Amino acid sequence: MSVLLTGVGKRYDIVSAFAQHDTTVAVDPNPLAPAQYAAHHRRAVPRIEDPGYVPALADLCAELDVGAVVPLTDLDIEVLARARADGLLPALVPDPDVAAATFDKYEAHALLRRHGLPSPPTVLPGEPVEAYPVMVKPRHGSGARSIHAARDAAEAEFFCRYVDEPVMVQRLMQGPEFSIDALCDLDGRCLNAIPRTMIESRGGESIKGTVIDDRELVDLGREVVEALGVRGPCTVQVFRDREIGLGITDVNARFGGAFPAPMYAAPPGRTYPELIVRMARGEAVAPHVGEYRAGITFTRYYWQLELDGDLRPTGRDIVEPPGPPPPR
Ligand SMILES: Nc1ncnc2c1ncn2[C@@H]1O[C@H](COP(=O)(O)OP(=O)(O)O)[C@@H](O)[C@H]1O
Ligand SMILES: [Mg+2]
Repeated sequence: MSVLLTGVGKRYDIVSAFAQHDTTVAVDPNPLAPAQYAAHHRRAVPRIEDPGYVPALADLCAELDVGAVVPLTDLDIEVLARARADGLLPALVPDPDVAAATFDKYEAHALLRRHGLPSPPTVLPGEPVEAYPVMVKPRHGSGARSIHAARDAAEAEFFCRYVDEPVMVQRLMQGPEFSIDALCDLDGRCLNAIPRTMIESRGGESIKGTVIDDRELVDLGREVVEALGVRGPCTVQVFRDREIGLGITDVNARFGGAFPAPMYAAPPGRTYPELIVRMARGEAVAPHVGEYRAGITFTRYYWQLELDGDLRPTGRDIVEPPGPPPPR
């Protein structure tokens, strides 16, 4: 059996972690996407909008005996969800309506509220705002793109016009922000939920953070993914505001922007890639929500590959871990 990862981009750590446990196939429209070089097989497929996208993935699944298709970006979750519902792909994604709702932050807000889950006060442009400051956010945003704080109605109106895509207006949450990295089985049961702080983020990736022992966040993470019927990985972002308490600001039905956190913190043998590989092989995995090691901090940096004239990795690297200092 193998695992197929889509839109792998720069997420070398995720692809590499899967490749340690099973044959791994990576697809990305960009031939220079670095993460595809961590896979056993890298394949070109049509663009997501192309009607040939799902058939091409289905062909790869048949050819390489793929037991799970796991998207690494938001862009194809809905397409994969429909293909899954139609029995075309073994994709680890929620039902199509949930995939669509979590891709639209205003729909996600409405969905969370319907389930009685805490989402900050959020309205569409032109609707009355309870209190300022607010955040003007693209409904289909990702990677923290085009998000603007507004102190009053005039500023909010300006940013609603300025951002050239559908936006929403959300209470600006004060206080610390957290992410909860969860994994669900094929029946939408939460297997684990691991919360972390967000010390520093850049372009949607968390680059520094600490895994924390916080039962309230573990429980909230489980409630969210089980209410939504998530399959596979999901990351829930939440603020703990002094006035209004917990507020969920983002739900991503995929691996979040800090893959190392749940990797380091998971119990041995039960990292998310290992559990996904087991589920792909048809094994049942027992829930173990809250079993993880808190107190671990990650700090991330850039790395690169040298490719030859045919875009094949040369295997050459430029830095070794420090040995003893040279003699003076
Ligand atoms: N309501 C809010 N109050 C305060 N900060 C916010 C709010 N919504 C988003 N942010 C900040 O903007 C970042 C990106 O927003 P998010 O909703 O996660 O969108 P995305 O990650 O899809 O771009 C968050 O990590 C958070 O730091
Ligand atoms: Mg986010």
